[in-house]
Amino acid sequence: MPVFYDQDTKIFVLETRNTSYIIGINQAGGVQSLHWGEKVNHTDCVNMLKPHSHSSFDPNIEKEKEECCPWGGLFYAEPSIKAVFFDGVRDLKMTYETHTINKSPDELIVTMKDEYYNMEVDLVYRIIEEFDLIERHCIIRNTGEDSFLMENAGSAVWNIPNPDNSKLTYVSGKWAGESQLRQYSLTEGKFVLESRKGFTSPNFNPWFALSNEAADEEYGTVWFGVLAWSGNWKITVEKTSFGNVRVVGGINDFDFGWEMLKGAAFETPVFVGGYSNQGYGEMSRKLHEYQRKYILPKEHADKPRKVLYNSWEATGFNVNAEEQMVLAEKAAKLGVELYVIDDGWFGTRNNDQSGLGDWHVNKNKFPEGLTPLIKKVNALGMDFGIWVEPEMVNPDSELFRAHPDWVYGFPTRIGSLGRNQLVLNLSKDEVKDFILDFMSDLLANNNIKFIKWDMNRPVSEPGWMEVPEKRRKEIWVRHIINLYAIWSKLKSMFPEVVFESCAGGGGRIDLGMMRYADQFWASDNTDAFDRLSIQEGYSYAYCSKAMMCWVTDPINYLNHRKLPIRYRFLSAMMGSLGIGGNLNEWSDEDLGEAGRMVGLYKEIRHIVQEGKQYRLSSPGSGKAAVQYTDDKMNESVVFVLGHSQQFAESPFRIYLKGLAPERTYLVECEGEEVLRMSGGGLKNVGLPIALKGDFGSKIIRIKAVD
Ligand code: GLA
Repeated sequence: MPVFYDQDTKIFVLETRNTSYIIGINQAGGVQSLHWGEKVNHTDCVNMLKPHSHSSFDPNIEKEKEECCPWGGLFYAEPSIKAVFFDGVRDLKMTYETHTINKSPDELIVTMKDEYYNMEVDLVYRIIEEFDLIERHCIIRNTGEDSFLMENAGSAVWNIPNPDNSKLTYVSGKWAGESQLRQYSLTEGKFVLESRKGFTSPNFNPWFALSNEAADEEYGTVWFGVLAWSGNWKITVEKTSFGNVRVVGGINDFDFGWEMLKGAAFETPVFVGGYSNQGYGEMSRKLHEYQRKYILPKEHADKPRKVLYNSWEATGFNVNAEEQMVLAEKAAKLGVELYVIDDGWFGTRNNDQSGLGDWHVNKNKFPEGLTPLIKKVNALGMDFGIWVEPEMVNPDSELFRAHPDWVYGFPTRIGSLGRNQLVLNLSKDEVKDFILDFMSDLLANNNIKFIKWDMNRPVSEPGWMEVPEKRRKEIWVRHIINLYAIWSKLKSMFPEVVFESCAGGGGRIDLGMMRYADQFWASDNTDAFDRLSIQEGYSYAYCSKAMMCWVTDPINYLNHRKLPIRYRFLSAMMGSLGIGGNLNEWSDEDLGEAGRMVGLYKEIRHIVQEGKQYRLSSPGSGKAAVQYTDDKMNESVVFVLGHSQQFAESPFRIYLKGLAPERTYLVECEGEEVLRMSGGGLKNVGLPIALKGDFGSKIIRIKAVD
């Protein structure tokens, strides 16, 4: 039984395939964490439910590990819930009221209730048994007549069992440098990861991993959590003076307010947590499989991602029917399956200074509309896709002139521009309707099979002055609720359309968005060398199927680094492949090689997109090696990309993972060297790899032959 309650001990047990998650109700009616990790017997946890006092300065609750942390009484650690009642009282006293255990899905709901006011909180735990994951969220309810104001509505508090597990792994980044891995060993105090920018942001991503000091890719105990939210979020990792390691996360309480009217229920985003006793590698693989099975939109979750071409780096805003057709012909010859036209096709959008918001085709560039280009693309055997940035407006646009009140802002302030644009107030229903209308017209009137939805600046001056003061801080959440509602509606109206989430690259990659977005644009940085570390950081929490990677020009526009075509392809083939270079300038030799690499990718993409991923060697070591293996251990593919050869180094060895030890495999390296080895040999003896010169690269294919 994945969930059960022991009435005698007042303990709940949530079991996954390999873990126990145990909580109990203490004498004060608090819900306490007792264990999370390896399977144990819940009766061994009973002692932990007893109060453990220290001094009048350090209330009992500081030694306990609460599952939900309302701010009130003697609670001083980071709270997960904070409210102000109608009479000005801002102190919560919530205790266990009741619980429900459900089947399919396996679920525990523990209801807590304030002892005086009509406020209830459901702590919802849903078990994803096969991946050792628990999805948690809260439902906060007003069951009375008087309204109250929520000032904090966190999704979950995760308690990490042992203070030795204090090594925090997370990602930090910026535009063109997203998802850089960081590690930090906690001492007492708080470490906050967050976004206050109105979107997920490229600066930090809403996930954490806490492990023992020695944990690595293969060994060690790791507790981790990923938050499904695309707006302002906050994850506070705290080590208390008593050594408790706790993680509180959810919607950011900074500048947050939500009025709870009579009968209201507020559902927080899901924060999914898990445990691995085989290091970060197993953590990632559990998350990847979970995303493919439960999170990615059903319509396309099982279908291969198509090889796409995008014209942005080739043409910038200078798009027109004729030149796009020329590029489309060249892309089709390479085996591209989806042709995407980027920014610049609408309004007066000749640069980033005007036209954003005017979603009608620019007749100078496309005199007969998009249809001739779409027909041409379809005749070449490709689907057609298009770029949009619906949440934004240039002040120099018809939309802004008609609706200057549709943007966030304060009356005494001039709105700060970012990339010459302002953010539409998507909290307003008329803005939501406008976006839904133009997007459904665009999709209904054109044979469009792919949308790249961009967001190129953060929210600022977050004013919404037309609503009563108490409701103004709701914008941070309402924007995202309406965004999700639009995506959900569009997905149900146009199930055949694939959606990509982009925010100047990887600024809106998160589990919340992944329920609607089939894929993410991981970064505007298309330098194949930089990409290796961006992709490595991305892979900690997210699956390769949803990671779009383009091969661009030989000299990259950002770093001006020149890279060989094979290296560029192999770097991009570790996710879902796209091409984004100016094909008009590629040599015949490069075009020939590109065609071969696209062909090769199509042969292996089922392994890359659906298989188990093993990070064999980090790009930081100068030799990046990533392996993907299909579920049945029949086939595997390994990408090895070196930085530079030094000191006359001889071949180095890579040690493969995830193969059946007793089976025999045929190893093919670039079609040149062929050898046979057992799975055990590939793991323990390893495979010699020789790279040549700077930016050498190899792809190795492995197939079971018995
Ligand atoms: C953002 C995206 C790019 C491109 C441009 C277009 O920067 O990340 O891929 O679409 O906008 O303006």
